[in-house]
Amino acid sequence: MKVVLSYSGGLDTTVCIPLLKEKYGFDEVVTVTVDIGQPYEDIKQAEERGKKYADKHYTIDAKKEFVDSLFMLIKANGNYEGYVLGTALARPLIAEKVVEVAKKENAEAIAHGCTGKGNDQLRFENIFRQYGFRVIAPVRELNLTREWEIEYARQHGIDVPATKEKPYSIDENLWSRSIEGGKLEDPSFIPPEDIYEWTTSPEKAPDEPEIIKIDFEKGVPVALNDERMDGFELIKKLNEIGGKHGVGRTDMIEDRVLGLKARENYEHSAATILLTAHKDLENLVLSRRELKFKKLVEEEWAELVYYGLVNDPLYDALNAFIDKTQERVTGWVKVKLYKGSAVVVARHSPHALYSEELVSFDTSSLDQRLAEGFAVFHGLQGRLYRRLFQ
Ligand code: ARG
Repeated sequence: MKVVLSYSGGLDTTVCIPLLKEKYGFDEVVTVTVDIGQPYEDIKQAEERGKKYADKHYTIDAKKEFVDSLFMLIKANGNYEGYVLGTALARPLIAEKVVEVAKKENAEAIAHGCTGKGNDQLRFENIFRQYGFRVIAPVRELNLTREWEIEYARQHGIDVPATKEKPYSIDENLWSRSIEGGKLEDPSFIPPEDIYEWTTSPEKAPDEPEIIKIDFEKGVPVALNDERMDGFELIKKLNEIGGKHGVGRTDMIEDRVLGLKARENYEHSAATILLTAHKDLENLVLSRRELKFKKLVEEEWAELVYYGLVNDPLYDALNAFIDKTQERVTGWVKVKLYKGSAVVVARHSPHALYSEELVSFDTSSLDQRLAEGFAVFHGLQGRLYRRLFQ
């Protein structure tokens, strides 16, 4: 009996390897690690451990597809309650890649290391089940705790990155890094500085601000400081520059799909910069009504992504709407980075619905006297209503 395990190389998924044999009776465990821009050392470590503890290991490169889905996220200004959706968007893609291996390997089942408390189980399984695979979730089914796992790993001679003192659950990809668990679970606990790896603390960031320029074409970033580059490189560079200036930390209370409220910490420098810039460019280019309606679409879009429901037909329909709005979202934005903040300081688009000539206080081509007629009617009903009580 063969099982394919979605494998990160971390504590949860590593203990799954012996558990799948001991507790579930599989005689072959195949591990799959999907590269979505997490640090190279993580992929290498997963590869080493997969080869060491499992019977066969695959590393699949999905960076390009992940960047494509991030481009859609940028167009949708994707965020759920203030969270930039990095893990959420990555999970279905990882699942698709794991399914490809499971098919190739003729596996009976697919396993994952998610707990029964989070969202990732739902995002993974929605895709695994779509292809009819039996799903095995040892951590959830055996009701495991991280402490138990650490002990079990020790007994099985498995070296684990997490310790009882620093038992964080970290999920990292090109777009974001999340840090959960341990003491952070207490919302009243102030996180120690050492949970952060991408960002300098704003207090220690450079005293000199830095202004960067980002070019967008049809809603998608294409150049940084006038240098054209592919999405992967651009996001990586922005993570470095933004991280240096302490940009893109989030400490929040998040409503998980199951209804549990959770304290979450994230780092996502490029995401903060790109979403700030993109929204600003949209404000210049889209009509007032487009902007208002798109917000509703964005809210729905973010919820589908957070819930892992990207196979819902609504997702395709919303993307079609969003793509239509992005046809004119071309231009550039300058963003000032300074001690944790990313602020737009200039923008330009050939499609701007903006006329300096019309709006300027110093020109008279638009006869301002005409506004009087508008003012006479504006607020008419409110005035009638108030007068009733005078
Ligand atoms: N709260 C985020 C989400 O639901 C991050 C989850 C991180 N996952 C993890 N296994 N550490 O998308």
